Amino acid sequence: MIELQELEKVYKNGQVALRGISASFKGRVTSIIGRNGAGKTTLMRILSTQLIPTSGSATINGMDILHEQDRIRKNLVSIPQEGRPIGLLTPFEHLKIYLAARGMSFQGATEASQYALKKLELWEFRNSPTDTLSGGMKRKLFVAMAIASGAETVFLDEPTTGLDPVSRLEVWSSIKELSSEVLLTTHYMEEAMALSDDIVFIDNGMIIKKGTINELLMDFDGKIRVESTQPVSGWTRIGNTYISYVDTDSASAYVRKGYSVKQVTLEDLFVRYGVQIES
Ligand SMILES: Nc1ncnc2c1ncn2[C@@H]1O[C@H](COP(=O)(O)OP(=O)(O)O)[C@@H](O)[C@H]1O
Ligand SMILES: [Mg+2]
Repeated sequence: MIELQELEKVYKNGQVALRGISASFKGRVTSIIGRNGAGKTTLMRILSTQLIPTSGSATINGMDILHEQDRIRKNLVSIPQEGRPIGLLTPFEHLKIYLAARGMSFQGATEASQYALKKLELWEFRNSPTDTLSGGMKRKLFVAMAIASGAETVFLDEPTTGLDPVSRLEVWSSIKELSSEVLLTTHYMEEAMALSDDIVFIDNGMIIKKGTINELLMDFDGKIRVESTQPVSGWTRIGNTYISYVDTDSASAYVRKGYSVKQVTLEDLFVRYGVQIES
């Protein structure tokens, strides 16, 4: 469980990245979703003790990020955004060196590496230089590092950004193999839906909305999405489409006027809470 109390981060140049956020994340997998610059990476770096907050505090399973950094680091694996393995090393070497650096014995590291490589179907590539692996395989190698470490908590910062759809699915299935508590950031709604129990929308350094997928949809006032290709004042514009949300009762009136209507989906939460849709 991760608890945040009034967590605030102002960078040296005056940029405010987190505006005093308080929340607790209890799900096995929690997705933090928000557009670029929302504050996702800042939050992950603070929670993984790589960055000190300007004010406020947080705990991970009761351990304080400011006063129990060593304990947190022992129990946590944080995979950075844009993380790249070292190209000359093979996946097997990577894992063993990483685990040894975390304090595992040679024997333990070898066994845990074998287990994780097999689990994520990286075994046949274990002795190839990571340079020769696809982008998806490289990301999977990081997930393998997390699995092999046995860490209680795993952070993944945008694990599939920039991957093709097939690689993305592969990385998703590798993330599903993690038995730790997982906090991941993404700007893909489908990713949050596919992987997480709880979703936290963040924008401009604030938590805009938080809940399970069902709770978020239940809360949404206006169960029907009405679309127009012509500008309508007061409606939200997405590309060339104008969108409004209405009650089920009034939907038929819009159909008669020739608008197209749809049941709301999680994608609509994106629109409502101001998060960008990938185009
Ligand atoms: N080292 C830094 N110095 C100054 N501003 C930063 C730094 N890192 C991030 N920021 C700013 O803080 C805000 C949040 O950034 P970040 O946490 O990286 O967001 P996200 O990961 O959601 O894209 C942005 O406005 C970003 O430009
Ligand atoms: Mg980021």
